[in-house]
Amino acid sequence: MEISEITERALKEFGSADTESALEEAYNKYLSKKGEISQLMSQMGKLPKEEKASFGKAVNDARNAATAAYQAKRAEIEKKKLAERLEKEAIDITLPAKNKNIGHINPYYAVIDEVTDIFLDMGYQVVEGRDVETDRFNFELLNVPKDHPARDMQDTYYLEGSDLLLRTQTSAAQAHTMLEKEVKTPIRMISPGKAYRRDDDDMTHSHQFAQIEALVVDHNISMANLKATLELFAKKMFGEKREIRLRSSYFPFTEPSVEVDVSCFACGGKGCKTCKGTGWIEILGAGMVNPKVLEACGYDPKEWSGFAFGVGVERVAMLRYGIDDIRRIYTDDVRFLKDYIGK
Ligand code: DAH
Repeated sequence: MEISEITERALKEFGSADTESALEEAYNKYLSKKGEISQLMSQMGKLPKEEKASFGKAVNDARNAATAAYQAKRAEIEKKKLAERLEKEAIDITLPAKNKNIGHINPYYAVIDEVTDIFLDMGYQVVEGRDVETDRFNFELLNVPKDHPARDMQDTYYLEGSDLLLRTQTSAAQAHTMLEKEVKTPIRMISPGKAYRRDDDDMTHSHQFAQIEALVVDHNISMANLKATLELFAKKMFGEKREIRLRSSYFPFTEPSVEVDVSCFACGGKGCKTCKGTGWIEILGAGMVNPKVLEACGYDPKEWSGFAFGVGVERVAMLRYGIDDIRRIYTDDVRFLKDYIGK
């Protein structure tokens, strides 16, 4: 019979159509308006009345079967296409990443961040100082009056025709912090920032460098508090086994004053190149805040006492990362950052 013959052919062709275009071609051939199955309906008119119903049903069955075969094939082709696309666009997460040379944080900031974290943990506040200072804040309030010999060591950059200068020490932030308090309350602060001094620019010196200043003012602050704080700092910064040693020294704004050494973290104190054979490395200057400074900044020395210290950022960075030339810290060469810190 014609219907079953057409249906059989249609199903076979839908079944073997492997591409979208072959499938569409088969669709046009059988199922479109002019397709063979649709055309069968036009024969209805010629049939005797009693055959019409069964013929109509047979054509409908044929259309349904062919449509189902077409749709099944369509779904299959679509699935195959999707699988191919997924395969083609697959991301191989095991491939090494494209090398984007992103560098590394500069040792200068690495040290500032680390020290800041240590003191934030101890409840200190971070204070921002100013790079341009007045003579009063940089020197006079810190007990360095005009013509004081300590000024010689800090000869610096003055702005012509004013009493402004590039600050020679972050210690200026001490005076600001104390004076800015209208009501005198205890202080625990650190202030990282740049300082400037006329200096040779060589492997270990730079006319611009960074310091981290610290100031604690409270009732009954003693040298023991200073020592305990520095010990904790040295251990956190340079390792649990580190010890500190205080040597007496002189700074105009502290009395007594000390230089603080840490036992060498490279050799553990036996003596090596890093500590120049001594087993100790000098890391900072410190002392009890001079009563004259407290007084000048509005804190009555009969009631208040305090300690202060100043750390050289580059010095710590050079020791910590074994950097031989201070200038490397300022040039931001990515290779240097990787070699020294990025490992
Ligand atoms: N301002 C000193 C300098 O630049 C460093 C210093 C020493 C800071 C002792 C202090 C201190 O706060 O107590 O050499």
